[in-house]
Amino acid sequence: MNKAAVVASILAGEIPTPISHAIATEPANIALAKYWGKRNEELNLPITGSLSISLGKYGATTEIAQHSAGDLFLLNGNSIEPNSEFSTRLKLFLDLFRPYPEFYFTVKTQSKIPIAAGVASSAAGFAALTRALNVFFGWNLTDSMLSILARLGSGSACRSLWHGFVEWQPGTQEDGMDSFAKPIPSEWRDLRIGLLLFNIEKKAISSRKAMQQTVLSSPFYREWPQHVAKSIQALHQAISQQDFILLGKTAESNALAMHATMLTADPTICYWQPETVTGMQKVWHARNNGLPLYFTQDAGPNLKLLFLQEHSHVVKDIFPEVTIIDPWDL
Ligand code: PMV
Repeated sequence: MNKAAVVASILAGEIPTPISHAIATEPANIALAKYWGKRNEELNLPITGSLSISLGKYGATTEIAQHSAGDLFLLNGNSIEPNSEFSTRLKLFLDLFRPYPEFYFTVKTQSKIPIAAGVASSAAGFAALTRALNVFFGWNLTDSMLSILARLGSGSACRSLWHGFVEWQPGTQEDGMDSFAKPIPSEWRDLRIGLLLFNIEKKAISSRKAMQQTVLSSPFYREWPQHVAKSIQALHQAISQQDFILLGKTAESNALAMHATMLTADPTICYWQPETVTGMQKVWHARNNGLPLYFTQDAGPNLKLLFLQEHSHVVKDIFPEVTIIDPWDL
């Protein structure tokens, strides 16, 4: 089954009647138990589940309208090179929804997060675009269906349609109709995320390629599915009991395990920069001195810190460059 067939089955019978324009905003998300490895490359179907926290106000706002000739993509007010990788990905996604081949879109995105630096910018972008399309074409789809459509753009985008904690069920069906995310009802008002951006230049190897290479060649990958299952279970317990130490240590160990699968891939994949390791060491040092501070890391050199509001000042003293995010400040 390909993407077009999935879209056809979701939109069956819908007659697209676009309105003049539509706009939607969705948050970025950071996985605390990571999605790493696909069972279906075309449909972005994961081998395991994953669990994330959304970044509140930090996300993407996307506005769409019909365009006269050719697609027009603007990012933070600048037009995007039509032959760039970014344009190609966006165009391929929009191809799934054009009422006829010569129907073109204007897509204007304002992103509050660095693009393609492992800070989940594509997740927020595809989620906002999917929700905007739902309004634009009057589909009236449920959030679960929108999550499936957003997944076709980027896997982690399926978790960016909600605030707070979100879990993506991997599903077992071949067409992926049971592979979508759901919010976990919970509000943890004093939880904070710190963004430590060491290098916001474009990453060397895409997460798509890195996942593939890891699944195919890392001898440690076979341990990964069990590890994630345990992480998800522990995170549920941490969230329901607001047990910060359990949350922090589970997220950090899950991220390190994911990077262990990459480091042991052939050829090896290392997103770590000297600043990444220095940052990790500072976190461990602070923790040895009694500060409850943890990190997680995605497919890029940056670290995301996890801590409680009461420690914001100490964290800022250690990392003056940190951007502190309150996930519930919308
Ligand atoms: O959705 P993608 O293809 O950008 O992959 C995201 C992979 C990680 O960020 C490393 C993990 C995750 O679950 O977000």
